[in-house]
Amino acid sequence: MIITIDGPAAAGKGTISAYLSQKYHLAYFDTGMVYRAVGLQMVLTGLNLQNQNAALKIAQNLTFPQMMELSVHPDFRSDIGGQAASIVSAYPTVRAALLNMQKNFALKPTFADGQPAKGVVYDGRDTGTIICPNADLKLFVTASPQIRAERRYKEFLQKGMITSYEKVLADMIARDERDSKRTNAPLKPAEDAVIIDTSDLSIDDVLAYITPLVEAKL
Ligand code: C5P
Repeated sequence: MIITIDGPAAAGKGTISAYLSQKYHLAYFDTGMVYRAVGLQMVLTGLNLQNQNAALKIAQNLTFPQMMELSVHPDFRSDIGGQAASIVSAYPTVRAALLNMQKNFALKPTFADGQPAKGVVYDGRDTGTIICPNADLKLFVTASPQIRAERRYKEFLQKGMITSYEKVLADMIARDERDSKRTNAPLKPAEDAVIIDTSDLSIDDVLAYITPLVEAKL
C-alpha cells in the first residue's frame, strides 16, 4: 500500500501522515527532509544557497544516516531550514540526484528501527506526481496561507523559537510561490489526487474524511 500526501507547508500533511502510518502500520517518508538536509548542510558549511553546483555535490553524497543526524539540528525545522530547503529544491539537478533515494524507499519500506513495513506514506510536494505516480491513494492537502501561517507560528512558539506571525506568513507566501512556480516538479495535485482543503476543518474532521478512502484501498 502506497499513500502519497502532497501540499503546501503546514496544511496538515504531517499530522495526517503520522496518523495513517500508525493506524495502518505503514512506514513514513517525509520527503521534505531530503531538501532540508541539503539546505541546512549548505548553511552550516557557509555555502551560498545560490551555488547550485555545491548543492548538487551535497545532494549526490547525501545518505539516510547523514539526513537523520542533521534532522536533530535546531534549524532543521526552523524557517531557516525551510527557506534553505525551498531554494535548493528548485534546482533540477538537485531534485534528480535525490530522486532514486526517494523512489527506492517504496520498493523496500522500513520503519525507523529497520523492521520491514508493508507499505509507505509519502509526505511532500511531488510524491504523487513524480516519486510514486502509481500510488494506491493520492491526497493533496491544502489550506489558506493565513491559516497555515497561524498553525506554523503556534508550532514555533511551542518549540520556544522566537519569531512573529507576520514573518511566518511572509516566509510561507515566499515558499509557496517558489514551490509552485518552479519549472521542475512544481507543487500541484496529481490528476487522480483527492483534494482536501483543511482551512475550516478540525483534524478529527479531516481524519474522518480520509479513513474511508484508505479502507476502500485495503
Ligand atoms: O515539507 P517541508 O516543509 O519539510 O519541505 C521543505 C521544502 O522542501 C519545501 O518548501 C519544498 O520547497 C521542498 N520540498 C520539495 N519536494 C518535496 C518535499 C519538499 O520540493 N517532495
